[in-house]
Amino acid sequence: MFRNIIFLCLTVLNTSGDRSYRDNEWNGNWFPHSPNEQDTNPPFVNKNTMTRNDNRVEMGISDPHCDDGETNLNIDWDNNPVNYTCLDRKDLYKPSSYIHPVHTVERIPTFYVASHKCMNESIQYSTSIPTFGTHRPLWPIYGEYKFLPKQRWLHNLEHGAVVMLYHPCANKNEVKLLKNLVKGCLFKHIITPYNLLNPSRPLALVTWGHRLEMSKVSENLAVRFIREHALKGYESTFKNGQYNYGILQRADFVSDLHDSVVCPTATNIMK
Ligand SMILES: *[C@@H]1O[C@H](CO)[C@@H](O)[C@H](O)[C@H]1NC(C)=O
Ligand SMILES: *[C@@H]1O[C@H](CO)[C@@H](O)[C@H](O)[C@H]1NC(C)=O
Repeated sequence: MFRNIIFLCLTVLNTSGDRSYRDNEWNGNWFPHSPNEQDTNPPFVNKNTMTRNDNRVEMGISDPHCDDGETNLNIDWDNNPVNYTCLDRKDLYKPSSYIHPVHTVERIPTFYVASHKCMNESIQYSTSIPTFGTHRPLWPIYGEYKFLPKQRWLHNLEHGAVVMLYHPCANKNEVKLLKNLVKGCLFKHIITPYNLLNPSRPLALVTWGHRLEMSKVSENLAVRFIREHALKGYESTFKNGQYNYGILQRADFVSDLHDSVVCPTATNIMK
């Protein structure tokens, strides 16, 4: 099942701080490739899920007749700035410690297999913040986006990512605090604005089957949520995505390729 993932060597690739290696200092192998090289790894195909549903569109393969990450993107998002701009009264979104965070668990049947739909078909969800479901074959490169449609980030959730959503009207300091926390916890993260969040809880962390909605960042709760629910998507692959429309900043490695230590600097948080 995982034979397409070649575990070469664990390299700490942090671009900030003293843990980083410069290109010419590292003589070992790079995974998946050195910074200046093209990623030539074969796409990851989960053979188990393929046999459970033979009609499933293969993931991670760019195909202009299905999904190449460029054609017909309008079907998921029409590029409307309304989705990343604050057009509402900001005071409605003020952080408050009196509004308790809400953790929602969606029970996903054990044998549920999310399907992939090509860009000629729209995908609708029954909840405003879905935690699982049908999605696009190409998944986004990890990192922060100007705006990323849910039909894309759901695929990262399936691979064990944490997705941070924030309303464009949310308090700037709270947004910054949560962004830094997520970026410091794990490589496998996605950050995007999302204007369909509730004004009383304009911040959310989402993993496969779980969502945490907050008015104000609780560092304790956020770290515990990420430690307990990230990296649990049923299709584990460490391969980065292919889709990058709207990316602002690519994710950095935090502990290593496998995110084997989640939130390494949050040492004072109870396990
Ligand atoms: C969409 O495109 C895919 C791949 O070309 C095809 O298999 C599928 O039948 C198409 N769906 C519709 C509704 O046309
Ligand atoms: C963008 O915002 C509009 C207005 O709130 C909403 O109806 C639409 O669903 C949003 N689009 C996406 C892709 O989130």
